Amino acid sequence: MEDVQEQDPFRAERQKSGVLVADFSGEAIPMILGYRAVREAAKAWQTYSSDAPFRVPIPSEEGVRSVRQLPIEADPPLHTAFRDLIKPFFAAPQHPDYQGRIQALTTEMIAQAKAMDRLEIVRDFALPLQSRALTYLLGVPEEEALTWMGWGTHVFHDGDDSHAKGSGLEAYIRGRLDRARKDGGDDFFAFLSQAVVNGAPLTAEEQLGIANLVFAGGRDTVITSIARMLAYFADHRAELAEIAEDEKRIALAVEEFMRVISPLTHIGRVCRHATRLGDHPLPADSRISLCWASANADESVFDRPETVQLNRQVNPHVAFGSGVHSCLGAPQARTILRSLIRALATETRGIEILSETRQYEVYGTARRWVGYTALDVRILA
Ligand code: HEM
Repeated sequence: MEDVQEQDPFRAERQKSGVLVADFSGEAIPMILGYRAVREAAKAWQTYSSDAPFRVPIPSEEGVRSVRQLPIEADPPLHTAFRDLIKPFFAAPQHPDYQGRIQALTTEMIAQAKAMDRLEIVRDFALPLQSRALTYLLGVPEEEALTWMGWGTHVFHDGDDSHAKGSGLEAYIRGRLDRARKDGGDDFFAFLSQAVVNGAPLTAEEQLGIANLVFAGGRDTVITSIARMLAYFADHRAELAEIAEDEKRIALAVEEFMRVISPLTHIGRVCRHATRLGDHPLPADSRISLCWASANADESVFDRPETVQLNRQVNPHVAFGSGVHSCLGAPQARTILRSLIRALATETRGIEILSETRQYEVYGTARRWVGYTALDVRILA
């Protein structure tokens, strides 16, 4: 994790021009790299819009889903109405009882892991932990996680047939929404099926678009974070023990992991009108990206950004985004990751990495280490 080049492939371009133009399936997209510029652009939704179904993610997702994801693919005031509607569900992780349930789940899973000679963390620990924790957030029976785990580490891109995966996800959600309409209840699907926005019930497409985002948004990001944190503590046992003694330090450590890992490297916006970004003319309807990972390594904001400082006190990172679309799932992610630190410190004596395969993303000349496709470990009891 300390390897600078591995960490910050954007540094040269960020210092030179602040923009990296990268090719995405034949589309040249300028990525905004500097911290301040990323935050400014995230604020300027009248210029850099999210009202662009399928085109906020890069690469775009026309081929893998049939509906606009909400609230992420909308601008205010529509965005605000949908965000306000679902916000209460995402606040549950702030409640101590909820945190206790996630802690119990994480501790139980670590206890099981100790009994194994070898454990592949990505698929056999992080994926089940993320899926089981999501059942708590959505208020559905925990067994439902077994179905979700079958979808793999990414609901669209895990395996060869992304289109079939996307259709499968939609069929599943439609089925759950149909059942909720008939049976009622108090889970997330029942809530969506009864919800009203701006005086009108949600359409079937809007319900599907919200649920689609909930399954897609917090999956690979959380899985990546769990695997990277575990790998880090394999080499930093003493630091783990120190951190775990103090709740404040646990919270600071998770923020620093978020800054360093930045599991969502960047995300797109669409230019409403023709404009310019430095030397780059931006035609109307062209895309730019907000590069959270580069912003989080900006040396004009973060002291020695290339070093992992788990007690970093001033840490205004943008791993969870910035502005009106900032991540609604952040409390859930933080709760899982904090509970993992506690469980690793109290339940284990160490972590031994047996083998690893790193996962990279490529942006023009920049190659970025994000997470692992596989991480085999032994957890020492
Ligand atoms: C470490 C884990 C996570 C990271 C790094 C992350 C990152 C982000 C980022 C950067 C955005 C802003 C997108 C934009 O500006 O267009 C975002 C939005 C969002 N995230 Fe997350 N996320 C994580 C976990 C989750 C989880 C667990 C969930 C749900 C269970 C979730 C649900 C959402 C939703 C609904 C939005 C859209 C908010 C809006 O448009 O107002 N995320 N996330």
